[in-house]
Amino acid sequence: MGRIRVLSDNIANKIAAGEVVERPASVVKELLENSLDAGATEVRIETEGGGRRLIRLADNGVGMLRDDALMAFERHATSKLASIHDLDAIATLGFRGEALPSIASVSRLVLETRSAEEPTGARVEIAGGKIVACDEHAAPPGTVVTVRDLFFNVPARKKFLRSEQTELAHIASLVTHYSLAAPDKSFFLAHGGKELLNVSPVAGLRERVFQVFGSQTLEELIDLGERESTRPDEAPARFALRGFISRPQVQKLNRNSIFLFVNGRLIRDRLLMHAIAAAYHNLIPPGTYPFALLFLHCDPGEVDVNVHPSKTEVRFRHSSFVHDFARDAMRQALMESRPAPSVPTFAGPAPLAQPGARLPYSEFTQQIENLRFDEARPVWAEPAMQIEPAFTLQPSKAADPRLDFGGAAIEVPPQPLRLPTPETHGPLPYEEPAQDLGSLGDLRVLGQLHDSFILAAGRDGLWIIDQHVAHERILFEKVLAAQAAGRVEQQRLLMPLVIELTPAQQVEYARIADELAAAGFETEPFGNRTIAVQAAPADLAVGEIEKVLNEILEIAERELRRVSVEDLRRGIAASVACRAAIKINTPLDARRMEWLLRELAATKMPMSCPHGRPIALRYSTRDILKSFHRI
Ligand SMILES: Nc1ncnc2c1ncn2[C@@H]1O[C@H](COP(=O)(O)OP(=O)(O)OP(=O)(O)O)[C@@H](O)[C@H]1O
Ligand SMILES: [Mg+2]
Repeated sequence: MGRIRVLSDNIANKIAAGEVVERPASVVKELLENSLDAGATEVRIETEGGGRRLIRLADNGVGMLRDDALMAFERHATSKLASIHDLDAIATLGFRGEALPSIASVSRLVLETRSAEEPTGARVEIAGGKIVACDEHAAPPGTVVTVRDLFFNVPARKKFLRSEQTELAHIASLVTHYSLAAPDKSFFLAHGGKELLNVSPVAGLRERVFQVFGSQTLEELIDLGERESTRPDEAPARFALRGFISRPQVQKLNRNSIFLFVNGRLIRDRLLMHAIAAAYHNLIPPGTYPFALLFLHCDPGEVDVNVHPSKTEVRFRHSSFVHDFARDAMRQALMESRPAPSVPTFAGPAPLAQPGARLPYSEFTQQIENLRFDEARPVWAEPAMQIEPAFTLQPSKAADPRLDFGGAAIEVPPQPLRLPTPETHGPLPYEEPAQDLGSLGDLRVLGQLHDSFILAAGRDGLWIIDQHVAHERILFEKVLAAQAAGRVEQQRLLMPLVIELTPAQQVEYARIADELAAAGFETEPFGNRTIAVQAAPADLAVGEIEKVLNEILEIAERELRRVSVEDLRRGIAASVACRAAIKINTPLDARRMEWLLRELAATKMPMSCPHGRPIALRYSTRDILKSFHRI
């Protein structure tokens, strides 16, 4: 007798569960996606013990027929695919027919469901993959899935779970972001009886972002609107991108604030991540990340979602088209909004360090996000602080151990947290602030501070402009425009400048020599590991040429190896601009300062220098009046 056996369904399900059910949040994701596929408009999720003890999700979707209720737990049983052709264009979130059997094999699960087509529904109870009960059940149409004691029969997996608050943070983040993907539906999330999210249907994404993050975050974001592109082809395919991205002054230290949805599915995707990085290239400093909430829609045939067991990755059929479309759409939006950062009027310690400090809801969700990376010191273990509108965090005094968050507890607010909706609060309390840097041209120069900053009075307050970075931005755009037009101004050197290269620099030089030429550097190899520079961009002082070339070769070596020619060009232009720009500690006369502001106003992106630093700060008239207690 041979030694190879086919695994029993129960073992196969448990193996599948290893891939599909990584943690409590994965259960919530699968159940939530099932509800959305079932056309639910209302989803209520209750959790306990960070989702390990309990996850209950109730929806008002189409429900299941009685005969289907048990069938749903068969491996590879799905109502979403009928033939092999459906696999090429999947329009539902689920399609593998493995989520429910996988979850049921590693928990105690109860399914209660009824279809509106039948007078009664069904109740199925399964523990560790074994059917315990299956009965007729009276209930309103819809589905309730209750998952208790996750991983009770998989001790190894249980050990890998993080603290209760970390697991809860993952769940909260997931539900929050699915609620952003479906503003027309209502979502409710509670933990241990405490409401964490409760949003009712609203007209659109902007209103939902306001519900979830509040007006403060909304002010920091740029609405992409709906941007479209059609891939020219014999069978043209239309792509649409919606969502919000942050203004360049918002700089995050990790990618946790980037959320990508493709056809309504929350995914991780390196291609779109790269498109974001490219859109912000030269706008925010290297190593920092923006906030992004992107919804890409396309024909299901353009994207393969059958790539990963947990369905969190996709593959695009025409990936470079998608990449460039997303990058250009975001860059365009960034160019169109020309905001100036305001002078921060409050420079106290970060809210977390302040006992009793009030945190807006957006910060709260941010803290939830940060939990992932800062697990050693959960925010809820911080001293007493308040989160607006109604969270109160207190050091642990919780009588009920279930409320204890390892050193801190969420105190029940007197009224439940109900996020304000535009309907109940009139129009959004958010107006595009008058921050248009176009008005830079109208500024009246008052003087220079420390030979480095230009002070100017404008209609909307007092402006402080960093003369070096302002000039850098002007030169950067000038160099790029000249390069694009093939009309770079050059200066011929009286004596060629001979520069020695390291072996690594020599390799880079060979690779980027054409680009250097396009930027105005006329160079040629000159003996072993040496180049001779005959001409350079006109704006550069001769003493700076060698530094710039070294810098460019270094950038090329360090980070631009894999980036596009366009990014390399921008890197060269940034380097030239930085070296050629007026330095700080340089006295300027009024005419020169006025010229600088006029030129800056005419640039495409007057808000930040090519390296991502801010150029101008504005102390608004309103803030000045407030500070003098006049309003
Ligand atoms: N909330 C629900 N409302 C109505 N029907 C549901 C619900 N949840 C599951 N079902 C039914 O049960 C079937 C099995 O669900 P399951 O999540 O296991 O697989 P799937 O969604 O088809 O694929 P995947 O494994 O990719 O999620 C679904 O195809 C659907 O018909
Ligand atoms: Mg499913």
